Amino acid sequence: MGSLSLFPARAATSSGQVDALYMFLVVICGVMTVLIFLCVTFFAFKYRRKPGDRPPKPIHGSIPLELTWSLIPLMIMLIFFAWGTKLYFEYYTPPKGTLDIYVTGKQWMWKIQYPDGQREIDELHVPTGRPVKLILASEDVIHSFYIPAFRLKHDVVPGSYQTYWFEATTPGRYHIFCAEYCGTNHSRMIGWVTVMDPVAYGNWLAGATTGGSMAEQGEKLFEQYGCVTCHVLDKQGRCPSLRNVFGHPVQLEDGRTVLADEAYVRESILNPNAKIVKGYHRDIMPVFQGQISEDGLLQLIVFIKSLAQESTPGTAPSLTPARPVAPEAPANKQAGGKQAQKQ
Ligand code: CUA
Repeated sequence: MGSLSLFPARAATSSGQVDALYMFLVVICGVMTVLIFLCVTFFAFKYRRKPGDRPPKPIHGSIPLELTWSLIPLMIMLIFFAWGTKLYFEYYTPPKGTLDIYVTGKQWMWKIQYPDGQREIDELHVPTGRPVKLILASEDVIHSFYIPAFRLKHDVVPGSYQTYWFEATTPGRYHIFCAEYCGTNHSRMIGWVTVMDPVAYGNWLAGATTGGSMAEQGEKLFEQYGCVTCHVLDKQGRCPSLRNVFGHPVQLEDGRTVLADEAYVRESILNPNAKIVKGYHRDIMPVFQGQISEDGLLQLIVFIKSLAQESTPGTAPSLTPARPVAPEAPANKQAGGKQAQKQ
């Protein structure tokens, strides 16, 4: 298929997998269509009424025949479902140790932030041979982040985070499209992803200017917004300490246990009363809805993530008083995994 210019270039491990499914679908549909039309034509001639023919005796159905022509196609079609589901879950469930890149869509551009603090507009740089996870956010309406060469796309919905991951294989420059109509200049919401080998990527990262890593920028915001007065890092404050929270289960006042992921942290900043941590109170923290930009939110999240990465299982006990929460042991294991996400 590679030489056929009908298809975009293949530049990630996902490309071939999606193409294989697509070709399977085309071939099966082609075979089915041809078969049906051949049968229609053949039977039209074979059973055409000839002079002198009498009308045949009507047949009122045949269970074995009907089951056969229903069940066999159903089984074949279910292969699409199973195969598609497998691919879907594979690419929307990032593995551990990904390189995280933050993408914010707004009318009509893509803003990209890297953990080390580099920022770009409508340009995404990724290395080959390493799983890259995109965390997608929108500042206004629904966009869709589509990289045809990777055969991957996901809607970017305001008010939530979406993610997918890929592993690029072939250096080059490939299109990024917005694949969801988002207003006047939707068709110009185009960018480029540059795939580089790891050495070139390292050089590129080193050459790009930064105003501090995302975590450092998040820490500044953390102080600027006064979060630090209540979320005291290593002792009991009016609000839960945020050390070693990210990626761990959190027990809530209403008895539920939730995972402290990007969406949880985001919600807790914008609408703190939505989920109250066990042992703490409502209406202590101000609502930051509309106060912080999407970019700022992502920086704060990376900062809070970094608080869980710094401490290794050995240093964890110091937090127990500040976080009267859940099982520590499995939580620490997760922290170890998360640690690899960012160097
Ligand atoms: Cu953004 Cu279409």
